[in-house]
Amino acid sequence: MKEQARARARQLAQKFIQHGDATGWFEHLYTQAQGNEQAIHWADMEVNPNLVGWLDRRNMQGKGKLALVVGCGLSDDAEELARRGFEVVAFDIAPTAIVWCRQRFPQSPVEYMVADVFDPPPAWRGSFDFVLEAYTLQVLPTDVRSKAIASIAGLLAKEGTLLVICRGCSAEEPQGNLPWPLTMEELNLFKSTGLWQVHFEDYFDQEEPPVRRFRVEYQRASSAES
Ligand SMILES: C[S@@+](CC[C@H](N)C(=O)[O-])C[C@H]1O[C@@H](n2cnc3c(N)ncnc32)[C@H](O)[C@@H]1O
Repeated sequence: MKEQARARARQLAQKFIQHGDATGWFEHLYTQAQGNEQAIHWADMEVNPNLVGWLDRRNMQGKGKLALVVGCGLSDDAEELARRGFEVVAFDIAPTAIVWCRQRFPQSPVEYMVADVFDPPPAWRGSFDFVLEAYTLQVLPTDVRSKAIASIAGLLAKEGTLLVICRGCSAEEPQGNLPWPLTMEELNLFKSTGLWQVHFEDYFDQEEPPVRRFRVEYQRASSAES
């Protein structure tokens, strides 16, 4: 079922991207799913183990910190951050995904919002102590990623932490089908926005078959250092 859903998503994405629309297909996919998560191939309905592993290792405490989840999908990661004490804002470009999140977690303290990473609310600039980007860049075509990267970097507060989790490949590898892995060179764009790369991990995850992942932690310098 998930493989069929992935194939349908690829077809839909191709149709929109061919017409110069990199993001219109997400809302279509969510509305066509009609509440069936099996139709959304990335919706595991559980928190991302690559996030949990990182949070546990870093022993990251959320109390008193404001977190932002980019392209939150059906929101398990946002809920996990809230459980760990963060005040959380989670956004997605697809209104149907946001309605779905609110229905799944009616008592949630997370603020769910429709927003576009290419044009986030101006008030968000430099506001978040922790920003999570998991698997959104890899479903955006390469020609628009640098704009998304600059936008995401701009949302971090001074001394804030950004965690990026994505599929990874080397520049020589063919990109293949959606989701399209990122290269280290693409991720280096985060550094050129002024972020400091704290930790770069390149590993194969526990999925079957295992997937090559990049998990990268960045930090914005304090004003004294910038
Ligand atoms: C592959 S899914 C990943 C969802 C979630 N982060 C997860 O790991 O399950 C990518 C999500 O990003 C959202 N998205 C795509 N383009 C976006 C944009 N420009 N701004 C905000 N969200 C976007 C999609 O609607 C989708 O929910």
